[in-house]
This record gives sequence, structure tokens and C-alpha cells, in this order.
Amino acid sequence: MIDNSVFTDLFSPAKLGEIELSNRIVMAPLTRSRSNKEGIPTELNATYYAQRASAGLIISEATNISAQGLGYTMTPGIWTEEQVAGWKIVTDAIHAAGGKIVMQLWHVGRCSHVDLQPNHEAPVAPSAIKADGMVFTDKGIQEVSMPRALRTDEIPGIIDQYRHAAVCAKRAGFDGVEIHSANNYLLEQFIRDSTNHRTDQYGGSIENRTRLVLEVAEAVTHIWGGGRVGIRLSPVTPEVGNTPLDSDVMATYGYLIQQLNKFKLAYLHFVEGATGQNRNAPDGVDLDALRALFDGAYIGNNDYDLEMAISRRAENKIDAVAFGRLFISNPDLVERLRYGIDLTSNYKNSHYGNGAAGYIDWPQADLSHLDSSHS
Ligand SMILES: Cc1cc2nc3c(=O)[nH]c(=O)nc-3n(C[C@H](O)[C@H](O)[C@H](O)COP(=O)(O)O)c2cc1C
Repeated sequence: MIDNSVFTDLFSPAKLGEIELSNRIVMAPLTRSRSNKEGIPTELNATYYAQRASAGLIISEATNISAQGLGYTMTPGIWTEEQVAGWKIVTDAIHAAGGKIVMQLWHVGRCSHVDLQPNHEAPVAPSAIKADGMVFTDKGIQEVSMPRALRTDEIPGIIDQYRHAAVCAKRAGFDGVEIHSANNYLLEQFIRDSTNHRTDQYGGSIENRTRLVLEVAEAVTHIWGGGRVGIRLSPVTPEVGNTPLDSDVMATYGYLIQQLNKFKLAYLHFVEGATGQNRNAPDGVDLDALRALFDGAYIGNNDYDLEMAISRRAENKIDAVAFGRLFISNPDLVERLRYGIDLTSNYKNSHYGNGAAGYIDWPQADLSHLDSSHS
């Protein structure tokens, strides 16, 4: 049971920008690969998300902004009318259950395979540097393909993809969007000097390498207003594809975060450490110091448990906490944490694909024995 003598406001309402939350527990974005082949969400996805609607905020699974942005089969998209209609079923179900959801906007960049790309073309990236990773295709798991470097005159088209997706997300009934600039997908491939060897205005200096993500933030906040846009960064993760870190994490991400302040975003969301692994940062990197450069609210993520969340919240290090894996097997995670109910363990083989099994069949705890003092 939770020690009730420890005060925490994790279970109390909060605001991230203009998004009002019933509590400070956030469901982290989780790719589950259960859309149909056209990237259209279905009733199955609506059931899954609605089961988790007691989270103060759900961040959707990463959602492809274009056919070019796709890197994993059966992941959802947000660029066609059919995808908008599919997502509307999901957002309606979450809202009916009293929840909130923002959409995570995704372009995988070099983390793709020619089999997933329009006309079997090479995936695009800041530079023609191959990732050391695997992706799911219709033929199973395959090594990523060699990418080609985007031409400078193609960059406005990338920003247009984000703009269009942001408009579609609004029409699909979301409460906001999260710019996926983490886990070494396209935007972070531009940010890090390990993956960006360009010589135009999108490469070289920190100012140049952060230009694309800032232009995307500008485009997306123009659609939504800053108060409904968040951004996810992962300054020290090698995921995905064994990507080396930037050679000066503090300078690069420090500059980026200070520039982001002008958009008055709803929140900054960090993966603290290596995604889904340890929380260590290399010598000389202080993620709390980077977070302190941001003027708005902050969501912390990566290998948290309730105790760590309570203590980091008490120290004012986080405004909200995002749990990923725990939400897979505990749809009622908020209630379980709040009332000290045992958690169900998470079976990894149900992460991706496999339909309803391991997706919508996790048990809800019986709360009927709780007395009114817990309400
Ligand atoms: C099955 C699975 C799918 C994930 N999909 C995404 C995703 O779509 N977008 C993203 O930014 N992170 C994704 N992540 C990373 C999680 O959001 C989170 O950062 C990670 O699991 C660490 O948090 P945790 O310790 O609470 O699980 C995924 C992780 C897992 C296990």
C-alpha cells in the first residue's frame, strides 16, 4: 500500500499548457503495431485506449505523418481521410471515458526499409548514413535500408508533412499533438552531429542542426497554438539503431530547449537515459539542468516507479510522469498506483502485432472493496 503520510499531488488535477489533466500520470507513447495495412486505427485500438483513459493524459503511439515517414508495418498514420476517420473513433472513445489524448507525430527518417517506402525508394535522412537497426516489414523483421540525404529543396516538403498531419490530428479530435523528436527518428537525426553531416543551412552548427525541428515547431504551433503542442526529446539514448550521441549534448540540446521557449509549448517530455533501459547519462551531461532551461511544464519518463515519481515530483523535478511498459499490462495503472494494488507483469511478446491478445485482455483491478475515504 502507498504510505499515505507521504504527500503527493500526482493524483490531483494539473495543467500542461492549455491541456487540463485529471492527474499527473501520463501514458507514454507506445507503438503496438495493431492498425490495418493502410495505417487506419479501428475499434480494437479505441477499446485499448479507452481502457487506459484514467491516465491524466494519453500520448498516442507514434503516428506516421506521411507514407515516406513510415518505418514499421501496421503502425497508424495521419495523412489520409480514412486515417482521420479511424482516429476519430479512438478520440471519441477516450473522451467518452473522461480521458485526454495527444497525438505523437512521427517521421522515422533513416529507420525504414525500401519495402515500406513509396515505390520502393530509399528512406530519407539528413545524410546517407545507415542506422544499425532492424524494422518490421510485411516480410518480417529486416535490417534497415541505406538512406539517401534529403536535398535542401525537399525540406519545405517535410515541414508540410508535419503541417498537414497536425491539421488532420485536429480534425480527428485530439486534444493536442506531441512532436516526436526523440529516439533518433528524423528530427533527432538532424539534431545530432553523429547522423547529420550536411553542409547546407540544416547541418554543421548547432543552430543549423536544430533548424528543422524548430521550423516544425513553428508550423505545428501555428495550427494548434503552443499550449496544445508538446515535444519529446531523448538527448542520451542510443535507441533506435545504435545511434551515437551528439558530441556536445549540453550545448546542442541546451540551445534547442532555449529556442523552444519562444513557442510557449504545453510541455517538454524527456526520455531520461537510454529508452527502456538504464537512466544513466554520460559524464558531463545533466538532464535536470537541461530541463531547467525550459520555461514550461515537464514530463519525465524512463524506468520510473511510483516511489521515484513521488520523490522527483516532491523535489519539483517533474510536473508529470509518463509510464510506458507499465501501461501495457495495467490499463488501470492510475488506480493501481493510487490504491497500492499489485501490478500485472508485462509480457514482451505481446508488444507488437498479435491483435487483441496481450492488447485489450489485461485485467482491471477490483476496486469495489475500497471505502469512500479513498475517493
Ligand atoms: C512496446 C513499446 C513501444 C514504444 N513505442 C514508442 C513510440 O511509439 N514513441 C516513443 O516516443 N517511444 C516509444 N517507446 C518508448 C516508451 O515511450 C518509453 O520511453 C520507454 O518504454 C521507457 O519508459 P518505461 O520505463 O515507463 O516503459 C516504446 C516502448 C515500448 C516498450
